[in-house]
Amino acid sequence: MISLDMALIKYLASLGYGTRREATAIVSARRVTRVDGTRLRDGDVFTHDDVRVDGEPLDPPAGCVILLNKPVGYVCSTQDVPPLVYDLLPPRFTRRSPIIAPVGRLDRDTSGLLLLTDDGALNHRLTSPRRHVPKTYRALLAEDVDPGVPASFASGTLMLKGEPTPLLPASAVIVSRREVEITVVEGRYHQVRRMFAAVGNHVQSLHRIAMGPHTLGSLPTGAWRVLTDEERALLADGSSAQGG
Ligand code: URA
Repeated sequence: MISLDMALIKYLASLGYGTRREATAIVSARRVTRVDGTRLRDGDVFTHDDVRVDGEPLDPPAGCVILLNKPVGYVCSTQDVPPLVYDLLPPRFTRRSPIIAPVGRLDRDTSGLLLLTDDGALNHRLTSPRRHVPKTYRALLAEDVDPGVPASFASGTLMLKGEPTPLLPASAVIVSRREVEITVVEGRYHQVRRMFAAVGNHVQSLHRIAMGPHTLGSLPTGAWRVLTDEERALLADGSSAQGG
């Protein structure tokens, strides 16, 4: 028999544990318990952290932010030619409502730090052109870097082909003859690759190492983790974002 309020079933379904019917079956099969192992029935009062399914903690609650080290070749989309970044996450994550969506995009050929969240307002804030959230990349170039590149990128006058307005100043540090660490505060289409094209070079590989206050740390390629509440709060208050 299904309880009138169905809170547990709806909650499990929202976290991607299945349709309401499938979540009902999970509850009916007594697979849902409290931390202490006692059975949890629909209609019981519960907190996220108190629930276990098959003895395992629940997936992260709504409002989560995932930090993924995207490999080259994966697409930041729910529907495209695979492989998709979602293939790197548990299949359940793609069945959640609201959906966990990438915060901005990395090209298929770009690797590195990608945030994903089901918090639409946070996603919007982090990608808003007005917020100027800094994103740092390591670019490996086909030609030796012109020593004038940092000044050119910092000038605020660099134009991208086909665009009517100049880029905001970006910082560039020459790491070696063909390697540059570049920080941009916009998210224009293929921005970093086009910036180097604008100064007569070509990006051979591009790897994002930081976004806002977050870096990849030692997260291996293809791996992901859920940001802690403290890490998430850093994103929400925008403390390390530059400008308005
Ligand atoms: N700039 C690019 O050219 N590609 C990316 O994926 C991100 C920034």
